[in-house]
Amino acid sequence: MTREPDLPGDFHLHRLDAVDSTNAEAKRRAAQGAPDGTVIQADAQTAGRGRQGRAWDSPPGNLYCSLLLRPDCAPGVAVQAGFLTALAAGEAVARHLPPEVAVQYKWPNDLLVDGAKVAGILLETGIDKTGKVDWLVIGLGINVAWHPPDAPYPTASLVAAGADEVSAAGVLAAYCASFAVWRRRWREFGFEPIRRAWLAKASGIGKTVRVRLENEELTGIFADLDPGGALILETAAGERRRISAGDVFPAAA
Ligand code: BTN
Repeated sequence: MTREPDLPGDFHLHRLDAVDSTNAEAKRRAAQGAPDGTVIQADAQTAGRGRQGRAWDSPPGNLYCSLLLRPDCAPGVAVQAGFLTALAAGEAVARHLPPEVAVQYKWPNDLLVDGAKVAGILLETGIDKTGKVDWLVIGLGINVAWHPPDAPYPTASLVAAGADEVSAAGVLAAYCASFAVWRRRWREFGFEPIRRAWLAKASGIGKTVRVRLENEELTGIFADLDPGGALILETAAGERRRISAGDVFPAAA
């Protein structure tokens, strides 16, 4: 493993040619006592993982990174970091794209450009004996040069969306710089500024959406994001359902 020059915002980069999964590597390092701010980046992953046990195809050319934090908080609070990550990744992506390209957040933690998925986030936590978070690993995959052609939803890459002169290293540096700023806001003001910034560019907000849960599918209006990061769905029966895990799709799709 090589130790690279440090990233902005007190992050310490460990760059690898290839690894099974940067999340798995960050978790191994967490178990060995690696500090807050450890960043694992790989040029390729042989067993990249997505949410809900899905695989994340990881050929060279894209950004695969995992950030290890020691946030000293309850697990319910750590969930908020996914939205903070989406904001930081969204800013990094927008910095590399023409201004007319729309960058949006898709609940819970995806990033869209012009409606197509360009990035995904995978949060994993380890809990200590007192019930607090011992470590939080935030995995981020950004399609820089390549995007999967056969996914069950539209996908995009930064290059396909019009980015010029873009590299995984450049996007990582921009992401870490934004992450440091949002993390300071989170510490100082809590989740509310993150929630508001995320909602301002949320895909499907105020619209009818389908939400696929483990055992059922619901349709309703995506009304809000609650203080715990759950999606609030208003059903036709007038119920307000609080959804904490699932996949969201436009109602017509
Ligand atoms: C998703 O949208 O399902 C989440 C995808 C997360 C992929 C990233 S790539 C870097 C890190 N390592 C992994 O194995 N997964 C995450």
